[in-house]
Amino acid sequence: MHVIDTQELVKSYGPVKALKGLNLQIPKGCLYGLLGPNGAGKTTTLRILCTLLAPDSGKVLIAGINALQDPRSVRKEIGYVAQEVAIDKILSGRELLQLQADLYHLNNLEKEDRINKLIARLQMSEWIDRRCGTYSGGMKRKLDLAAGLIHKPKVLILDEPTVGLDIESRSSIWQLIKELRDQGTTILISSHYLEEIEFLSDRMAIIDDGRVIAEGSPEHLKQELGGDRVTLKVREFSSQDESEKVKQLVQSVEGVRQVVVNKSQGYSLNLVIEKEEVLNRLRNKVLEAEYQVFTLTQSRPSLDDVYLQATGRTLMDAELAVSTQRDLKKESKQSMR
Ligand SMILES: Nc1ncnc2c1ncn2[C@@H]1O[C@H](COP(=O)(O)OP(=O)(O)OP(=O)(O)O)[C@@H](O)[C@H]1O
Ligand SMILES: [Mg+2]
Repeated sequence: MHVIDTQELVKSYGPVKALKGLNLQIPKGCLYGLLGPNGAGKTTTLRILCTLLAPDSGKVLIAGINALQDPRSVRKEIGYVAQEVAIDKILSGRELLQLQADLYHLNNLEKEDRINKLIARLQMSEWIDRRCGTYSGGMKRKLDLAAGLIHKPKVLILDEPTVGLDIESRSSIWQLIKELRDQGTTILISSHYLEEIEFLSDRMAIIDDGRVIAEGSPEHLKQELGGDRVTLKVREFSSQDESEKVKQLVQSVEGVRQVVVNKSQGYSLNLVIEKEEVLNRLRNKVLEAEYQVFTLTQSRPSLDDVYLQATGRTLMDAELAVSTQRDLKKESKQSMR
């Protein structure tokens, strides 16, 4: 049975179409990763699943319950750790957890026991009685996580739980997430860190522009692509024209598949080769045409290749595009003033 089952979710914010028919099926006990660039619709999806936001259309079943008709029952099953939380600055972390426990109607005994266990597990005892206003980013994330776990939810939904954390805090949160999965919790985690999704997920979906564009286990997604990845840069690359010329040249080499021009950080070509020995043929061809090879690197397919294959751009390019758009909007607002 699927613990989370959404069908054809559509959601707009005014003119912005955030979700354009999103389908997601998550099996029981699965640690499921949602990977996508800024603005892909991750938070919107998660907020709908947690019943904090209603879709314009589509279906949502959580543990077999229709979330749109019976949000209260769904909330009992779900723990949600939001991407950005406004934590009260005056309360201590412990007081905040106590409030959270009251929201879920835990009795006093249960409440203290649960809070103490979470404090110990997340190593929060040194600072949990300090005011939240004094916490670092990592401390706040841990507190958020503890708050989401207070009622032992069957389904845990985490929106970018490790963003901005140092490596140590990140890996301790990763470990906890895996432990919870091993104990039977179904977990959905969103991230735009490839390595996070790759390390954690049993299954994953790549979402882009409001839709799921690839789905499966990370291994399966990479295998499907087949072949080794090669990045080629020649010294003469300076324009789109030049890169198109080299592209055509490279395409004519036997055993080369899928050549894509990559524009980030100057021009380079991303290509897929069938076998190792194609690399030599490729190098010779480029040299014969009197281009100087600047870099030629080879690697096994990565999740970024999966993303590139599905969308025609790398995850980094997609993020750059969104931040450029934001900057342009800011500039035009400023110039209107
Ligand atoms: N309250 C809102 N009002 C207007 N537009 C919104 C609102 N919330 C989200 N959007 C827009 O909807 C789209 C999807 O946003 P969403 O927050 O779901 O993306 P995301 O994948 O979580 O991105 P990020 O990685 O930056 O957190 C974006 O274009 C965003 O600008
Ligand atoms: Mg988000």
